[in-house]
Amino acid sequence: MTHLTIQGTPIPALGLGTYQARGSTAAGIVRQALEMGYRHIDTAQFYANEEAVGRGIRESGVGREEVFLATKVWPSNLDKRRFLPSVEESLRKLQTEYVDLLLIHWPHATLPLESYLPELGKAREQGKARFIGVSNFNINQLERTLKTGLPIITNQVEYHPLLDQSRLQGWMQEHGLALTAYSPLAQGKAVGNPLLQSVGKKYGKSAAQIALRWILQQEQAMAIPKTSNPERLKENMEVFDFELSEEDMARIGELSSQGGRRVSAFHGADWD
Ligand SMILES: NC(=O)c1ccc[n+]([C@@H]2O[C@H](COP(=O)([O-])OP(=O)(O)OC[C@H]3O[C@@H](n4cnc5c(N)ncnc54)[C@H](OP(=O)(O)O)[C@@H]3O)[C@@H](O)[C@H]2O)c1
Repeated sequence: MTHLTIQGTPIPALGLGTYQARGSTAAGIVRQALEMGYRHIDTAQFYANEEAVGRGIRESGVGREEVFLATKVWPSNLDKRRFLPSVEESLRKLQTEYVDLLLIHWPHATLPLESYLPELGKAREQGKARFIGVSNFNINQLERTLKTGLPIITNQVEYHPLLDQSRLQGWMQEHGLALTAYSPLAQGKAVGNPLLQSVGKKYGKSAAQIALRWILQQEQAMAIPKTSNPERLKENMEVFDFELSEEDMARIGELSSQGGRRVSAFHGADWD
């Protein structure tokens, strides 16, 4: 497992996504992931699985302080009156006193972000979150966020070999922000890609492992693939024992220029 060092703290670059995993499936896969060596778990208020994720962490027997746990505040809770109570509810469900990372899940459609970002800062100051960040923010929204002086560490966005994020990524690198790649397997679509499959044959790896390695080999990048399948859980973690050549990195990087597109169901933000 490799780590990004952010504000002096090592953060596991590979995490487990949990969107669409619920109840005992979510609890079971989180427990198995931690037993297998995963140390970064991504959930959200919207996923309706915070209770199960918390249960999986406890059942794993891995100490809470060893796990990097992220959750996200849903837009309907960004209102000043609801923000912090919703975070408290998340903590209650997760059965923990703090999360390691608290994110704004999506920028609100009508509320200005300057109205709710201070609540994110308060959550951090009150010890409810060790680190804070945003998700699905475009460059303009990130600029406005940094102007508030909040010490955000990451923007979690859709990123995989079939989607070009070079402009956003370049800007984030210049400003010291890590990119957390969600849907890093393009929700499974990357697995059928002929180039990723042929590069995989060369390294003795699957197309999914090539897609993940391609992300993790980039500067300041993390990835949070989701699976509810124990074999794929193991497969997705076995990406630290090989390195893609510069040439293969570039070839995979060109895939997104061949009509790559988003797979995420939500397109709420202005991406220009
Ligand atoms: N911030 C946001 O707005 C946002 C949006 C979307 C997602 N996310 C986060 O990012 C996480 C990952 O994104 P995602 O769930 O959209 O997509 P993803 O991780 O790209 O893909 C998940 C899909 O790929 C399959 N899969 C996983 N590993 C595989 C492998 N090795 N070989 C073949 N298929 C494999 C999974 O099926 P099985 O489960 O059957 O293995 C599932 O159908 C989410 O769970 C969530 O935590 C955040």
